Amino acid sequence: MDLAARAALGSGADFWSTKSVGEVPAITLTDGPHGVRRQRAAADHLGINDAEPATCFPPAVALAQSWDPALVARVAAAIGREAHALDVQVVLGPGINIKRDPRGGRNFEYYSEDPHLSGVLGSAWVRGIQDQGIGASVKHFAVNNQETDRIRISAEVDTRTLREVYLPAFHRVITEARPWTVMTSYNRINGVWAAENSWLLTELLRGEWGYEGVVVSDWGAVDDRVRSVAAGLDLVMPGPDTAGDAQLVTAVGDGALPEAAVRRAAQRIETLGRRAHSLARPELRVDLEAHHELAREAARRSIVLLRNADELLPLAPTDSLAVIGELARSPRYQGGGSSHVTATRVDVPLDEIARRAGGAVRFEVGYRLDTDDDGADAEALRSAAVRAAAAADTAVVFCGLAEELESEGFDRADIDLPATQLELIAAVTEAQPRTAVVLSHGGVVRLATVPAPALLDAALSGQGGGAAIADVLFGTVNPSGKLAETVPLRLQDVPSYLNFPGAAGQVRHGEGLYVGYRWYDALERDVQFPFGHGLSYTEFDYRDLRLTVTDDGITARVTVANIGRRAGREVAQFYVGVPDSAVPRPPRVLAGFAAAELAAGESTELEVRLTRRDLAYWEVRVGDWVLEPGDYRVDVGASSRDLRAGATVTLTGEGAEIPLTLESTLAEVAHNPAALERVLELLAGAAPDWAGGASAGQSNIAAMMGGLPVGRLRAFLGGRLTRAQLQEALDGRLVKPPNPAP
Ligand code: BGC
Repeated sequence: MDLAARAALGSGADFWSTKSVGEVPAITLTDGPHGVRRQRAAADHLGINDAEPATCFPPAVALAQSWDPALVARVAAAIGREAHALDVQVVLGPGINIKRDPRGGRNFEYYSEDPHLSGVLGSAWVRGIQDQGIGASVKHFAVNNQETDRIRISAEVDTRTLREVYLPAFHRVITEARPWTVMTSYNRINGVWAAENSWLLTELLRGEWGYEGVVVSDWGAVDDRVRSVAAGLDLVMPGPDTAGDAQLVTAVGDGALPEAAVRRAAQRIETLGRRAHSLARPELRVDLEAHHELAREAARRSIVLLRNADELLPLAPTDSLAVIGELARSPRYQGGGSSHVTATRVDVPLDEIARRAGGAVRFEVGYRLDTDDDGADAEALRSAAVRAAAAADTAVVFCGLAEELESEGFDRADIDLPATQLELIAAVTEAQPRTAVVLSHGGVVRLATVPAPALLDAALSGQGGGAAIADVLFGTVNPSGKLAETVPLRLQDVPSYLNFPGAAGQVRHGEGLYVGYRWYDALERDVQFPFGHGLSYTEFDYRDLRLTVTDDGITARVTVANIGRRAGREVAQFYVGVPDSAVPRPPRVLAGFAAAELAAGESTELEVRLTRRDLAYWEVRVGDWVLEPGDYRVDVGASSRDLRAGATVTLTGEGAEIPLTLESTLAEVAHNPAALERVLELLAGAAPDWAGGASAGQSNIAAMMGGLPVGRLRAFLGGRLTRAQLQEALDGRLVKPPNPAP
């Protein structure tokens, strides 16, 4: 292959395919992530034109609530089988960006506000699909946390926050599951486009993380092809990009771009093509019936029972029911945009309820989904619903957000349910104290104004959601989902409230490390429902938390017992805090989780490994992870705010070795007695009175001097000390522990 052919290989053939050049076979990449979106005719990345029918599994917002990596892998494997049958070689998913703000328009496509959970589930998805011989494209790398101005915005994030919040899920997926491709995001990161960011795509991804696969642009994300390839991008999509191909050839000719960069990109695309075709199974027949069943199973496991006063649920089999709400007969089960799948079939909650009910079922529409509902109509619909609710034993109200209210491409302005629905819930609940509300939504909705005694969160539950909701309502399935995102009391409480969605092309991540529950916990702020929350029809007891220090961190074991009357599944969550940390840290972060399925009365021991990486922090001064020596507190519980057992272990850690420089303060130098002695000697020679002050222990003079960078001593000692002298006094010396208090 000559240079021109290699350059051409780096841009797609069309909307969804790469080129076939010489012997290199073309491949098809398509969305993703909760089903295969295979378009044969008119192509688009906005969810406008239809695609071939495929199973619509629960989108990430729901799937994450399962906290079940094995299930996520099975769903991804099924998507992989459908990809084979539809002649697709790479599915564009999973989306693992952090849900920074509940208004994020694409939150339904992402897993969680927590990097550990996002990474574990993302990794399972990639392994699941790639085990079938279909490639994944983990996206959007990186810091794509909003839709407003998504193609231009610069996410301004400090290094530690990048390392501890926005990158760990990618690190886990890339190092554990080795996705065939990584998709860059549209946005800039600290001013540099993700697709032109050589730190991100080369130094970090390939250098530090050892990634060997293909880096593909998001559709239309490349501004300057030469700069992108120079930064480490291999494939620009969609294609073709004939002008860009020619620019690469010219840039190599001019010496502006090393030819090796084009060669390497072409090689990676070639390897991807060969690999994909060696594993292709176009003859594979998909059992769509089995996949629909799997979609139901995934939805059942994803539903969260948020509230269940007086054990209102499960419904008694013979109850007469008033089923209320347009969403009961026109379910919203996926999000809008590039991920939109043409479902093979859809379970309708109302039908599924009617099928299972032993008593009478009466339906009332309650509200209209289109937003320009007029007042009189709303009133009439509400009154009819209230009458039906009052006449029945129990009311089940389906509420949520219509597709027009949330989608890829824009963020929400608020997190409220539509006013007509809130009024309906209030009126129905007043007329019928036995009212359960079922929610369908992609992003978090405010629930402080939803007074219903029972509350079921179905999120967006895919084509099997209707059956799953009915199973949970009637108790044939005991709910076990747990929230993957905090539900705040009000929008004003959210960590990024003042910094979202930014302005003038920049969005400052002012909350830093304190994303999601990390923020609410640090501020001890009340929330509506905490991260990790989810009830069951049975009860679990936690006891005997035992911690063992290992070479790789901490092994935690706990006994979980089902002390209720029916079988159930519990997800035990392990949170770690370092109360005496030398650096600012959230009070606790999720470092592991494990689930148990237990019959009534049964108990089991759960074990998780909390790895050094999950316990460490990113030390900006050395540019590395540091496991601090000290006490580590591990709490285990049923949610981030329902901690049932806690214990502390001491880790030797390794501390950090921070080089002393002329910018180190005297207080920092004091942590290295030998260096301090040398500096004080110099000081004694140049200014005897100052040296006395500095060594006078706790005096305020010593404290004031403690904050003085060593290099600045020169400013006060008019030429009596030189930079070279001070440098020599410090040279090669390091400070431990990492962050001595000034
Ligand atoms: C989205 C990607 C998607 C691509 C192709 C883009 O607009 O951001 O997630 O994979 O289109 O449809």
